[in-house]
This record gives sequence, structure tokens and C-alpha cells, in this order.
Amino acid sequence: MSNHSTKGTVLVTGASSGIGAALARTFASQGFALVLTARRESLLKELSEELSPLTDVTYIVSDLASEDGVGALLRELAALEISVDVLVNNAGIAYSENFDLLDDAGIQQLISLNITALSTLTLHFVKEMKHRGSGRILNVASVAAFQPVPSMSIYAASKAFVLSLTESLSEELRDTGVSVTALCPGLTNTDMVQDLSASNVPPFMMSRVEDVAREGFDALMAREVIRIPGVANQAAVTWAKHQPRWLVRGIGGLVSRFGPGRS
Ligand SMILES: NC(=O)c1ccc[n+]([C@@H]2O[C@H](COP(=O)([O-])OP(=O)(O)OC[C@H]3O[C@@H](n4cnc5c(N)ncnc54)[C@H](OP(=O)(O)O)[C@@H]3O)[C@@H](O)[C@H]2O)c1
Repeated sequence: MSNHSTKGTVLVTGASSGIGAALARTFASQGFALVLTARRESLLKELSEELSPLTDVTYIVSDLASEDGVGALLRELAALEISVDVLVNNAGIAYSENFDLLDDAGIQQLISLNITALSTLTLHFVKEMKHRGSGRILNVASVAAFQPVPSMSIYAASKAFVLSLTESLSEELRDTGVSVTALCPGLTNTDMVQDLSASNVPPFMMSRVEDVAREGFDALMAREVIRIPGVANQAAVTWAKHQPRWLVRGIGGLVSRFGPGRS
């Protein structure tokens, strides 16, 4: 990785599509070198070719939900002698289904990716960054981190984990030169949302990936702890914070049964 002079190297997980690909484009346009990772090699290769004129790009295929996925990625980074200045924990999956209709393998897959891989990567890079006295981590959580989401219970719980971890670490790492930021998007126009059959959501409720990525980048650079992109999402989170929990739960239940995205 030596063709361009860069502001540092960013590892983006889940870079093959959606918010991760948009974050990769944003970092590239701001002069950062990139390491892109996900499972779909053809999409990683395409994005690498698109961004190579702008910056140095390496891609590593990895299944971060598999048993040795994170280990293999870290070994590959070490073999390539790549030092990571910014970790973007973006890879994530969601299910929109009542809890009793999920299967054990699906639950394990979600926890392995959204929680275990994110924590293991964070642990590895926090150690390196703390030793170096500099570094930034962007964890992609969700507005679902702030309240229970009936019919997406396991997903919302995983994002509450990500938000809580981020907030705890941001205090633990105070004055170390290492910052941790949680990006908490609302509905954003990506494959994930299409897969959750939320395509009939009103346009004003749907953020653009480019805007979400730009907010994530800005929050990371400002070393903010929590960033919620979009005024409507901020208002919803603020409103929920000031209501009794039974009311927030109840409205979540109504939305999950009759709201946008439900057929
Ligand atoms: N879209 C929304 O409304 C929304 C709202 C709030 C938060 N988020 C969060 O934003 C993040 C990105 O999601 P997205 O909306 O951009 O959806 P997406 O387009 O489906 O992106 C998910 C990314 O995760 C990667 N991924 C999935 N399973 C993986 C695995 N086992 N190992 C490695 N990578 C894996 C996918 O790549 P491969 O399939 O190639 O592996 C893909 O690049 C997620 O953490 C999601 O929870 C999304």
C-alpha cells in the first residue's frame, strides 16, 4: 500500500454493499487508504477498482461470523504488514421475525457477527491503538439500540450491546488518544432494508447511504461518542427517552404489527 500518500489506513467491515461501501467511498474521498472486507469477493473487487485511482485499496475476503473468521482476517493483515489507524465495525445482519420463529443457527449467526466479531476486532485494535497512543473506532449501531423493537428483538438487543460497549469504552479510553464512536442510523436505503421487506416505507423515513456515511465520518473525526443521522431519527430517539418504557414498548409493538413495512 504505497502508491498514494494517505491520512491513515481504515479497515471497513461489511464493505461490499450499503453503508459499508458508502463509508469506504467517503474515507477514500478524504484521502484515507482502505482495507475492505466482507464475504462477496466480486463486490469487494469492483469497489477496490473504483476507488484505486483515489487511494490505496486492499481487500480481504472474510466470513466474520465463522469460527476463525476474525482470526484469519487479523493474520492476513499481519502478513500484509498493514497497520490500522481507523477500525469501522459496520458488518451486521438483521432478521424481521417473531422470536419464536427464529432458529438457533440464525441467532448464533447474528450474535457471532453483530456482537462477537465486533468485540473481538475492537479488543485487538484497542490494544494496538492504545499502545500507539492514537486511533479511532466507528461502531455501526442503530436507532434500534435505544428501544426494544418487537419482531426484531435479537437485532435490537445486539445494537443495544454495540451502543453500550461504545459508551463504556469511550470513557475507559478517555485521554489515551483512542476514540470510539457509535453511528446510529435509522432506516437507510440498503439491501438489508429491501430484505426486510420495508420497501413501502415513506421516503421521508428512509435515509440515503451517502448521508449516513458522511455523518459517520464527521462524527468519527470529531471524536463524538454517539451520532444519530437525520432530524427525524434524532426526534424519535429524544421522544422515546422521555416516555415511560411501557409506552415505548407498546408503540413498538403496534408499529411491528401494523406500521410501514408490514404487509
Ligand atoms: N439499512 C438500515 O436501515 C440500517 C439501519 C441501522 C443500522 N444499520 C446497520 O448498518 C450496517 C450495514 O448494514 P447495511 O444496511 O449497509 O446492509 P447491507 O448492505 O446488507 O450490508 C451488510 C454488510 O455486512 C456484510 N456481512 C454480512 N454477513 C457477513 C459475514 N458473515 N461476514 C462478513 N461480512 C458480512 C455484508 O457483506 P457480504 O454479504 O459480502 O459478506 C455487507 O457488506 C449493519 O451493521 C446494520 O445493522 C443499517
